[in-house]
Amino acid sequence: MKKVQQHYDEVADIYDDRYDGHRGKYYHGHISEHVMNELPKGGFLLDLGCGTGLFVQRYVAEGGRAVGLDISPGMVRHGRQRCPDCGFFVGTADVLPFKDATFDALASLLAFSYVPDPEGMLRECYRVLKPGGRIAVCTLSRTVLTSLVPLFYQMGEKVGLKKVGVGDFDEHYYTNTEIAGLFRDAGFEDVSVSRCSFAHLNLADPVFDLARKVEPFVEGNLPYLAYNVCAAGKKPES
Ligand SMILES: C[S@@+](CC[C@H](N)C(=O)[O-])C[C@H]1O[C@@H](n2cnc3c(N)ncnc32)[C@H](O)[C@@H]1O
Repeated sequence: MKKVQQHYDEVADIYDDRYDGHRGKYYHGHISEHVMNELPKGGFLLDLGCGTGLFVQRYVAEGGRAVGLDISPGMVRHGRQRCPDCGFFVGTADVLPFKDATFDALASLLAFSYVPDPEGMLRECYRVLKPGGRIAVCTLSRTVLTSLVPLFYQMGEKVGLKKVGVGDFDEHYYTNTEIAGLFRDAGFEDVSVSRCSFAHLNLADPVFDLARKVEPFVEGNLPYLAYNVCAAGKKPES
């Protein structure tokens, strides 16, 4: 866990560059849209693994209030600069410093794969959500396309590649069935799992543009070719 924290502290100053170009903006915006669609608007949100606050900013822009939590003090510093009126906390997503039944909405984007105790994180999410509150987690899925990614990242670390996410972090990628099971075991109901983001920002420009055009078709008809899984659920009313 220390290693992930160190990595994100090291890349915190360049993290937003990744999502500021043509591909990055589209990719992050697309994922955020999927997550937004699963959550109540205008409520009180907790974003776990919030990074530099991109999703916190998005949620607040649509009329909600939000706080973020991240293991990296460097990323949290950027979050505070981006959204000075929101609360940002340093901590791990599987031990939450919040009271029971505090939030209407819980989000986590591109961070769940790092969490060493996913069951513990979902138990904590359930605890801090109000009855009827909703959760949406978007994380890399395990498919034929993504199964080689950890190997690529491990090799990148060996050759000293300093890029966001590149390293050997013992990440876990999830199939639809696995993540749905984790949500149900934590007590969530109305659990749904979809795949999103066929147009990945790591694709070269001409391929990316093509992927972006066919993305709605892929997500609707060939979801196994999409990179991320977006799992959502609801804490029962009582
Ligand atoms: C790829 S970034 C995603 C950041 C942000 N959610 C976004 O969409 O831009 C992954 C983030 O997860 C954070 N992270 C990794 N392990 C974590 C943990 N156990 N608890 C909380 N945050 C964690 C990292 O520090 C990093 O900021």
